[in-house]
Amino acid sequence: MALISTTPAWQALAGHWQQMSQQTMRDLFAQDAERAARMTRDAAGIHLDYSKNIASDETLHLLRELARGAGLEEQRARMFAGEPINSTEGRAVLHIALRNRANTPILVDGEDVMPQVNQVLERMRFFVNQARDGDWTGFTGKRITDVVNIGIGGSNLGPKMVCGALMPYQREDLRLHFVSNIDGTHLSETVKHLNPETTLFIVASKTFTTMETMTNAQSARRWLVDLLGDESAVARHFVAVSTNAEKVEAFGIDTEQMFGFWDWVGGRYSLWSAIGLPIALAIGFDNFVELLEGAHEMDNHFRDAPLEDNLPVIMALLGVWYINFAGAKTLAILPYDQYLEHFAAYFQQGDMESNGKHVTLDGTRVDHATGPVVWGQPGTDGQHAFYQLIHQGTELIPCDFIAPVHSHNPLGDHHAKLIANCLAQTEALMRGRTAEEALEGMLAAGMPRAEAERLAPHRQFDGNRPTNTLFVEEVTPRTLGALIALYEHKIFCQGVIWGVNSFDQWGVELGKQLATVILKELEEGRVMAEHHDGSTRALLDFYLKNR
Ligand code: F6P
Repeated sequence: MALISTTPAWQALAGHWQQMSQQTMRDLFAQDAERAARMTRDAAGIHLDYSKNIASDETLHLLRELARGAGLEEQRARMFAGEPINSTEGRAVLHIALRNRANTPILVDGEDVMPQVNQVLERMRFFVNQARDGDWTGFTGKRITDVVNIGIGGSNLGPKMVCGALMPYQREDLRLHFVSNIDGTHLSETVKHLNPETTLFIVASKTFTTMETMTNAQSARRWLVDLLGDESAVARHFVAVSTNAEKVEAFGIDTEQMFGFWDWVGGRYSLWSAIGLPIALAIGFDNFVELLEGAHEMDNHFRDAPLEDNLPVIMALLGVWYINFAGAKTLAILPYDQYLEHFAAYFQQGDMESNGKHVTLDGTRVDHATGPVVWGQPGTDGQHAFYQLIHQGTELIPCDFIAPVHSHNPLGDHHAKLIANCLAQTEALMRGRTAEEALEGMLAAGMPRAEAERLAPHRQFDGNRPTNTLFVEEVTPRTLGALIALYEHKIFCQGVIWGVNSFDQWGVELGKQLATVILKELEEGRVMAEHHDGSTRALLDFYLKNR
């Protein structure tokens, strides 16, 4: 497989960047009154303005040629058709089936997966309604007031992010908690104030072998049984979400209380499956379906819209533009909505576990950059922390600004101020401030000229920092579903362009294996020197001596 960097389309883009990097967005806007209108698209309730990018129509055209040459349209069709595009694990990639509200058949190995998907959804609906209506009671007959999801990575981040984002849809008498870290502090601090009689644990693990989740689940079970004084209490207080029925049974959870999913659902794409059970418990089953509906609408848009109007494609192309041609190494996701507090952390896994790859599908090492470091936190907090570097630092950091038109909490003028900040940041990042403008401003404020000249270089901003702005009307289950699906498909498109497998995660394996070896040594209090380098050996000795 030829590397994408050897193609004429890539070479054309490299040359094009030389030209575009001499331009400023200020000039591009000044020369073209229609720029914003031309570079704005709406789909599935999302309004995307991508005009504040160092890009022209020609840039987008060349990027689309690159994507077409990489087989984007064919790969997209293969994903939707259930072909095994996750080639290193021999699996289909079908999170789109989990939210296929049209219910059209999707075949894997000749079998339609939709009946299984619908069956699990039906079981979830029944259980969620029972728990929320108080019909599912704990061992002592009391209704459930607290749900603790025990899972990590994709079995934690999605439900945690969505439950946070949709807090206005939650009921106060059913509280959600998330335990992921193997650090005993996480579980201890979570259960400290909980009543075992009214607590339900969801053990969420695709494999049901993950060390963190299994350890936390065992300790949670001990906590419950110790306090309720009866092993049989487990049946009323533990449910499992997994693809591994055997391991679930071995843990002691009856498969009647297990919600299944399938190997064609990647961990970081699993919130749409039964992994979303805590979401459905938190916001109700109908709202969970709305989340699926929103994602489905975005799936249809991604599948059917021409590349030039296709939101995930546009965002993917611009990302490739900066990563591969402008040398950007990171992407900041900056939601101007407190409820989207965990959105960037969610897509840290979504993007970095998907596209943090160094070989193409046929094992050839790439000679170009792939997935960026993804980071961010809600504005306006971030403005008072790291925006300085985005404005005046030496790195080019493309940013996505995400905001709702309406707030769930219309408190005084808070929302107008929030949006003013959001828009002001994107304007400042684009326009910057010339040294002359800085100087004039200081002179106009009465500063002596010598002092103003001394300060002007510090108060000058280059600008020309790229941003996308995404508005949703309000953060609802539906718009959130569409927003998440937008980013998922964007990541997919970038993976196709780079020729990598976005759906495996071998990079996390080695550390897991070594941890098992080291744990044995810690348990036995004996370091197997021949297994380790000098540093690890010395650190192990230090820990064993001082523990
Ligand atoms: O971090 C590696 C990983 O395999 C993720 O892809 C996954 O989301 C997480 O571990 C949890 O895995 P599981 O759901 O099998 O416990």
